[in-house]
Amino acid sequence: MKGFQVSVSSYNPADPGDLVIEVEAAGGAGTTAAVERARAAQAGWLALGAGGRSAALGRAADAVESHADELATLIVREVGKPHAEARGEVARTVAIWRYYAQAPYAASGAVHEPAAGPGLLLTRRRPYGVAGLITPWNFPLAIPTWKAAPALAVGNTVVLKPAPEGTACALRLAELAGLPEGVLTVLPGGGEEGAALVAAADVVSFTGSTAVGRAVVAATTERGIPVQAEMGGLNAAIVLPDADIAQAAAHLAAAIAGYAGQKCTATSRVIAVGDAYEPLAAALAKALAAIAEPTALTEVCGPVINEPALDRLTEAVDTAVAAGATALAGGNRIERDGWFLEPTLLEEVPAGHPLRTEEFFGPVAVLLRAADLDEAIAVANDTRHSLSTSVHTRDLDTALAAADRLDAGMVRVNAPSSGVDFHVPFSGAKGAGHGPREQGQAVLDFYTAERTVTLLPAGSPR
Ligand code: UN1
Repeated sequence: MKGFQVSVSSYNPADPGDLVIEVEAAGGAGTTAAVERARAAQAGWLALGAGGRSAALGRAADAVESHADELATLIVREVGKPHAEARGEVARTVAIWRYYAQAPYAASGAVHEPAAGPGLLLTRRRPYGVAGLITPWNFPLAIPTWKAAPALAVGNTVVLKPAPEGTACALRLAELAGLPEGVLTVLPGGGEEGAALVAAADVVSFTGSTAVGRAVVAATTERGIPVQAEMGGLNAAIVLPDADIAQAAAHLAAAIAGYAGQKCTATSRVIAVGDAYEPLAAALAKALAAIAEPTALTEVCGPVINEPALDRLTEAVDTAVAAGATALAGGNRIERDGWFLEPTLLEEVPAGHPLRTEEFFGPVAVLLRAADLDEAIAVANDTRHSLSTSVHTRDLDTALAAADRLDAGMVRVNAPSSGVDFHVPFSGAKGAGHGPREQGQAVLDFYTAERTVTLLPAGSPR
């Protein structure tokens, strides 16, 4: 606390004594003022035209690319992401800026014929004004970029409130992007700033927990402004007996323990069909145990974000074991600096245990049995949080049945549930996502309001 000003601080999860950044929170009034500045900057930003905005987004891409090493190091330090994944995130961030740098040139509408007589009917997409973005810490560059870049491309200005744990990454990203004053503002803060942003922005995009996402949806709906919200996932992987079990185990280990399972696309429920159970249990337990080895632990898994997260995870694992579950791999916190948990696979977790019903955001999965594909699909669909489901099989009919019948935002055949292509639509099914899709070209519609323009000859009788 400095005077009445609350500060935002972010610590290295692998070395909790390492304070990465401490800054003053923007405060509610500061947030409202930042939105007003962004609103004042919006007309000038739009007036730069397609060429001006494209060039500015292209320069942001170049700046991020030429600071790739620094940014990857900062991601590792601030949010504990393993280095290879951090480098991948920086590369993805560059690609996203470049992709949306072309978007200002995309068609912004269509031409229609009037129902009668001469003239033109045009549809045209126009920006809303200020996009308010609320982003999580787990992709501290990529998610802010995949929300901000399309919003900016179509002529909105942006105010971004990152999760406190990713504050340094977001501030550095905006600094490197180097956009004109007021066009991309990062506001350090927490719930107060998020609420003030949602109360003042013209369009809102959120990624984070289900509870906060629902509150954001309620507040924006009350105001009658557009919103998209990406919330928690409880993702399943279905493994059929005909699958390449070794490949499936490798994909699942990555989806369970990669970046300590701290992705809304991570796998937390593994559903083995019939005879796949025993070989998969053995192969996956071995693959996860290998990730608990010291080098792989740092290079593949990494720590969880903070002590409360580790406490929640260990408590969940302990209560499952007390209720009759068995750890086939892991199950314990690792006694070293930082918030490390062994990659964990549990079998016989009783129905209704929170590990089977809630997102935990950790390197922990439950192994479930299904007699056949129908039962596996029913188990996979038995959640409100259906973001990404993977299916592991060599059989085309099985893959097609899964693609038809799984309730999920993403169905990934012979691939891990995690991993997102930034040029295609992304969102969850049911409670995992609300509103129009993110990413790709689809999101350009989200950040614009379509209007219809009627052009008739002067003196037209209508
Ligand atoms: C990925 O799997 O590469 O918050 C990205 C999340 C998701 C992004 C997942 N919105 O974890």
